[in-house]
Amino acid sequence: MFTAADFIPNTYTSSIENGNFEWSAPSNIALVKYWGKKDNQIPANPSVSFTLKNCKTITKLAYTKRETSPASNFSFDLLFEGKPKEDFKPKIQKFLERIEIYLPFLKKYHFTIDTQNTFPHSSGIASSASGMAALAMNFMSLEKVLNPEMTEDYFYQKASFLARLGSGSACRSVKGNLVAWGNQANIKGSSDLYGVEFPYTVHENFNNYQDTILLVDKGEKQVSSTVGHDLMHNHPYAERRFAQAHENLDQLITIFESGNLNEFIKVVESEALTLHAMMMTSMPYYILMKPNTLQIINAIWKFRNETQIPVCFTLDAGANVHVLYPENVSDKVLQFIQDELVVFCQNGQYICDEIGDGAIAL
Ligand code: DP6
Repeated sequence: MFTAADFIPNTYTSSIENGNFEWSAPSNIALVKYWGKKDNQIPANPSVSFTLKNCKTITKLAYTKRETSPASNFSFDLLFEGKPKEDFKPKIQKFLERIEIYLPFLKKYHFTIDTQNTFPHSSGIASSASGMAALAMNFMSLEKVLNPEMTEDYFYQKASFLARLGSGSACRSVKGNLVAWGNQANIKGSSDLYGVEFPYTVHENFNNYQDTILLVDKGEKQVSSTVGHDLMHNHPYAERRFAQAHENLDQLITIFESGNLNEFIKVVESEALTLHAMMMTSMPYYILMKPNTLQIINAIWKFRNETQIPVCFTLDAGANVHVLYPENVSDKVLQFIQDELVVFCQNGQYICDEIGDGAIAL
C-alpha cells in the first residue's frame, strides 16, 4: 500500500530534453457510486466501477524543456480534436497545480496536450474520467523516463492517484474490468488515494458485461458533479448514505463471486436511484433525470418482468441511461433497445460498450 508521501519523488536520476507519449484511457461506469468528498479529493464513501472499452479519450503529450528554469508558471497548449481549446485550460491549470508537488518537473517543460474522445462531443458522457486518466498516464510516462527504476506497480498506482486529483472517478479508469476506490475493510489493498483492481473472484456471468448507453439528453448539465458532491456536506441523509455505500459494496463482493444477477440488479439499480435521490434531497435540490429517463426505466422493468432477462440500468450524474446486461442475452436486449428504447433517445442515439481493460500506451 502506498501513502501520499510515497508519491513525492526525492531526486530524478535521468534527464530528457523533449519527446512525446500517447495514451488512451476509457470511461467507467460506477455500480456503487462515489457521491460526496472531503478535502483533497478524498471520497466520502468507497465505490466500484466497470471500466469501459469503447468510450475513451486519446491524449498525446509533447514535451520540450524550457530555457527559463526555474519557471514560476506552467506552460502548456491544449488542443481538442486538433484545435486550440481555451475553455478547457483552467481545469488543466488547476490539475497541474494540484499534482505539482508529486511531479516536481512540471514547470521545467512546455507541454502540448492534444486530446480527443471516441464518443461524440457533448453526448452528456462525462469525459473528465477518461480525460484525466489519459493525461495522468502521459505524465507518468515522462516521470518514468526521469526515474527508470520505477516499478510497474508504482507507475499505475501513482497514475491513478494523480488522475483522482483531476477528477475523482478518473482514478477508476487506469486499470481494467472492475476497479474499487476508497477504503473498504473487506477489500484488501483498497485505498482512498487510488483505485485498485478488484482483488477477488469474479463469476463468468460478468465476463464481457455489456453497457449500452442511451443518450437521453446531450445538453450541458444544469448542476456539475463537483457542485453535487459539495451539496453532500450538511445533507440530511449523508451519513446514512455513506454507510449504505459500504454495505452495498460488501454485498457486491459476494455477488461478484456467486454470479447472482438478481441480487446484482437490486444493488445496482438501488445505487442509481439513491444517487439521484441525494440530488433531489440536497439544498438546493435539483433533478437531472428527464421524462425519457423514467420512460426507459419503466420499460426496462416491464421487459425484465415479462422475459426474466437479467437486464438492468444505472445512471451517472445526468439523464442518460446505462443499460447493463450479460453478453449471452445481447441479441435479445439489443432488439428490445431498438424496438422500445431508441424512441426515448435524443436523435435515436445510443452507444454500445462493454467491460474493458483500462489505459493503453499507443
Ligand atoms: C455520479 O468524478 O465527476 O459519476 O471528483 O468532482 O471530478 P469530481 O467528480 P466526478 O464524480 C462522479 C460522480 C458519479 C459517480 C461515480 O462515478 O462514482
